[in-house]
Amino acid sequence: MPSSNGFLLVVAFAILFIAHGQGLPPEFTRWYVHVVNGLSNGRTLFVHCNSKDDDLGGRNLDPETDFNWSFRQHVLRRTLFWCYVSKDGAHASFKVFWQDVLLFHKCAWKDCIWIAKDDGVYIKDLARNTDEFRRRWKP
Ligand SMILES: *[C@@H]1O[C@H](CO)[C@@H](O)[C@H](O)[C@H]1NC(C)=O
Repeated sequence: MPSSNGFLLVVAFAILFIAHGQGLPPEFTRWYVHVVNGLSNGRTLFVHCNSKDDDLGGRNLDPETDFNWSFRQHVLRRTLFWCYVSKDGAHASFKVFWQDVLLFHKCAWKDCIWIAKDDGVYIKDLARNTDEFRRRWKP
């Protein structure tokens, strides 16, 4: 009976729709990006992050604090976030999230953790439990 097929279709779409909201389909992942102030001597880190669509605003981070945000990423969407950071007399700009399986691996498919230290910016490689140097400070 056609109307019962139509009903099943509606139910199927309703289930898919609800599943989306819960993040159930594997092609959707909730990602967390962190920028951590790892500077010594109680110094403040300024951080300003953006994507093409979102300006997350600039802020000063107290020592050892973590600025973070999350978003859902579809495999087919090319989400890109980048950050500008500065400390007394030096600054750096770097991508913090982009479409890259190597990056996803370092982030353990969940948390991309960037740490500004005295000598530059590091990413935490959660797969190997090391901090990997990525950016030198520019004067
Ligand atoms: C993420 O940021 C919030 C403040 O917005 C902070 O309370 C929380 O500790 C941060 N998360 C982590 C893992 O540090």
